Amino acid sequence: MAIKVGILLFLVCSTLIPIGRGLAETVVDVTKFGAKPNGKVDSSMEMIRAWNKACKSPGPSAKLLIPRGKFRTGEVIFQGPCTANKRVTVEIQGTLIADTDLSVYTSDYWISFEHVDNVVVTGGGTINGRGQATWKYAAGDTIQNAPLLPVSMLFQSVRHSAVHHLNFVNSMGFHMKVTDSSGINVSHLHITAPKNSPNTDGIHISETTHINITDSVIKTGDDCVSIGDGNTNVIVSKIKCGPGHGISIGSIGKRADEKSVKGVRVSDCTLTGTTNGARIKTYRASPKLQVSNIIFENLILKNVKRPIIIDQDYNSKNRIQPSNVKIRDVHFRNIRGTTSSKNAVTLTCSKSNPCEGIEFANIDIAPTPKVRGLLPVSCVNAKPIFKGKVKPARCRC
Ligand SMILES: *[C@@H]1O[C@H](CO)[C@@H](O)[C@H](O)[C@H]1NC(C)=O
Ligand SMILES: *[C@@H]1O[C@H](CO)[C@@H](O)[C@H](O)[C@H]1NC(C)=O
Repeated sequence: MAIKVGILLFLVCSTLIPIGRGLAETVVDVTKFGAKPNGKVDSSMEMIRAWNKACKSPGPSAKLLIPRGKFRTGEVIFQGPCTANKRVTVEIQGTLIADTDLSVYTSDYWISFEHVDNVVVTGGGTINGRGQATWKYAAGDTIQNAPLLPVSMLFQSVRHSAVHHLNFVNSMGFHMKVTDSSGINVSHLHITAPKNSPNTDGIHISETTHINITDSVIKTGDDCVSIGDGNTNVIVSKIKCGPGHGISIGSIGKRADEKSVKGVRVSDCTLTGTTNGARIKTYRASPKLQVSNIIFENLILKNVKRPIIIDQDYNSKNRIQPSNVKIRDVHFRNIRGTTSSKNAVTLTCSKSNPCEGIEFANIDIAPTPKVRGLLPVSCVNAKPIFKGKVKPARCRC
């Protein structure tokens, strides 16, 4: 009986579209599973059932179609593994609207992709977290142990996958988070949240290897891209960032189980009106870790408060123990633009683990009209190498 119902459902709910020589793509439309495009009725379970259908369908590829319209959901987990060697495309043409009743979320995400390979999330649609209703509950310095607000889209244990051509607005927590994943392309995202919205990072990554984040516009209240612990082989390029807190590696070293960061290249980005430009931040009293092989190059900064900053005292209450994160081989090359503060370039490295192999090459940062002159590069526990033109003036170490 179950099998018959299954077959019947399959025939009713999915269309086989021929692609190439006899191969067929299964298309599963969420509205055929009862999802309602009216923005009012909760469609979480219908989305999950439609995903399961696409994920477990036979054949080389399947599409989960979220058509035009507004779909309201709470927590949704798109769980794998799917049928072996299958590509699943999630085409979001419409708008997903988050339930803002925080009690419907069992964890810190809204839409999660878990344990899948070969998934592509795209479609030109919008992911609206409606964070305005929840930002007052954001964890911060003032509210100890406040809950982490849900990330709009989480990739957890995802391999060989991509996210592109989507709009994210007003996430409750981060807009997108990628963790414990590998081989991920993120491109053509348009992310927007107000300048003063708390912890609304654009894209946060952790414990991930081989990830490219390119060609995206990110305007938000926190980091445009934040590269947390355990990442290797990260490329961030062609990002237009601002408002926001810039492009950051960190914060690193808050928790005991964190891993090192190795191999990050941030290039060809424009940052406008951000609080930071290129930043590395680590906590004091951290575990022993490394942040190494980092390149920030070809950046244009417009009216940025702290264009280049390494801060190993980040947010630390502990003023005695230095950071145990070793920062080495960091290259700042071809970075130009304007700053709204006197301290344009500051290296505050760890006393116990001075920074090593910091290079500045062709840096040209001018003060905005309100700022009277720039202080030289500040070098605490660091002896950088200077090449080509460097403005502000070199520190005397
Ligand atoms: C990511 O992009 C690269 C280069 O554009 C491409 O070779 C690769 O197949 C893409 N990977 C995925 C999973 O889409
Ligand atoms: C990222 O881009 C690089 C260089 O463009 C490419 O070699 C690599 O395959 C890409 N990574 C992924 C995950 O596709």
